[in-house]
Amino acid sequence: MSANYAVVLAAGQGTRMKSKLYKVLHPVCGKSMVEHVIGQIEQLNLTQIVTIIGYGGKQVKEVLGKRTEFAVQQEQLGTGHAVLQAEQILGEKKGTTLIICGDTPLFKAATLADLFAYHQQQKAAATILTAKAPDPTGYGRIIRDQAGNVAKIVEQKDTTPAEAAINEINTGVYCFDNQTLFQALHQVTNDNAQHEYYLTDVIEICQKSGQKVTAFTMKDFNESMGVNDRVALAKATSLMRQRINETQMRNGVTLIDPQNTYIDSDVQIGADTVIEPGVVLKGKTIIGENCLIGAHSQITASTIADNVTITASVLENAEMAEGSNIGPYSHLRPQAKIGPRVHIGNFVEVKKAEIGADTKVGHLTYVGDATLGRHINVGCGCVFVNYDGINKHHTTVGDYSFIGSSSNMVAPLQIADHAYVAAGSTITGDVAAHDMAIARGRQVNKAGYYDRYPVAKAAQQAEQAEKSFK
Ligand code: UD1
Ligand code: CA
Repeated sequence: MSANYAVVLAAGQGTRMKSKLYKVLHPVCGKSMVEHVIGQIEQLNLTQIVTIIGYGGKQVKEVLGKRTEFAVQQEQLGTGHAVLQAEQILGEKKGTTLIICGDTPLFKAATLADLFAYHQQQKAAATILTAKAPDPTGYGRIIRDQAGNVAKIVEQKDTTPAEAAINEINTGVYCFDNQTLFQALHQVTNDNAQHEYYLTDVIEICQKSGQKVTAFTMKDFNESMGVNDRVALAKATSLMRQRINETQMRNGVTLIDPQNTYIDSDVQIGADTVIEPGVVLKGKTIIGENCLIGAHSQITASTIADNVTITASVLENAEMAEGSNIGPYSHLRPQAKIGPRVHIGNFVEVKKAEIGADTKVGHLTYVGDATLGRHINVGCGCVFVNYDGINKHHTTVGDYSFIGSSSNMVAPLQIADHAYVAAGSTITGDVAAHDMAIARGRQVNKAGYYDRYPVAKAAQQAEQAEKSFK
């Protein structure tokens, strides 16, 4: 039985990106281009995938891990030379080999499966996946003979004006009979404008040696888009975003303004959730059903259960349980765990803290390094004072306790269940169950002292002015 293989080209530097980050690692909707490619070809049930690495090879290896085998291209002498590096692994194998570039993130598995099917049905030695480009500049052109058969591929820099006018382009994806491919690669020379060993020359070599070369033209040019610079990166991102948003909507998610909704590829959202304009959802964020994600919220790598409302807030590596709500203008930082039905109101920051069911933290509060129980009320303007300048310390607050407004909880600290902290207290010692802690200066009223202050004079003038106006 003949098997199917893939070679992914990812060794190039990506000079045109003008970046310290290697080209294929540039993200499109939160995932590197080469991961998009691998993700699609993984759906094709191939026997082996070999990724050619060179520039940034260490980083590419880290990103792809065990999903593929690797072959190293020491010097970047061209795409043909790159594929040849897979010879050690694949050279002897019988079967069909798909070649795809790591900088074409939009290809869908279904299109690649169609290419395999066409290639095998045609019993061809080589099949090029081509597309009709509105603007073919930069791509290799497909040169056909008078009978319409593929003769060769000519790179942009090697085209004559007549060839440059051809709008059928090489998408950089091919199916080859594996053994034919490696035999032909040995015959490729670097006699061209860029002095590179072009993979595309294999086509003419096969054709001239009497092997069957065909082309399969895909419908949607956009899907074949290659990213060589930042302008193309932005275009690819915009196309990917549109695709993601359409998938979300078809799965039952309401996007009020899909043009202005930014959802990364790995985000999962439940049905009947509504996403308002300007929302940014990043990383492996999971959102449940029937949530409302309000305008301009930004959520990264967080897990949100069902029936949660988020209003104009920023979440990173945080969790919100069923029925909880937050905002406007609050911030959940890493390891914030918000329990069921918890209310986090305006201007609240939570970091590395667990907040138990039905607790309320309504206004202008910082909760860091703390464990709060259930049914607690934290008043306005409270600070969990967790840092002594060197170390972070922890505070625990028990169930049904009440923290009065404008209190400081100076950690390490344990406040028991059913405890009461009087407003304006700075609590530095533990509080037992059913106790009330008050820690502030006693109020003193000094008779007539108001009149000693400049404000008294100003008030007098204002009162007189009011009278004369009447
Ligand atoms: C290539 C094709 C072109 C096609 C276009 C489609 C060749 C010669 N040209 O051009 O016909 O229209 O893709 O997008 O194949 N790479 C290596 N090692 C190298 C050189 C490149 O691994 O020595 C990798 C790059 O990392 C990249 C891919 O091969 O992922 C394509 O290389 P790139 O330089 O982007 O080729 P294009 O000029 O886009
Ligand atoms: Ca390219």
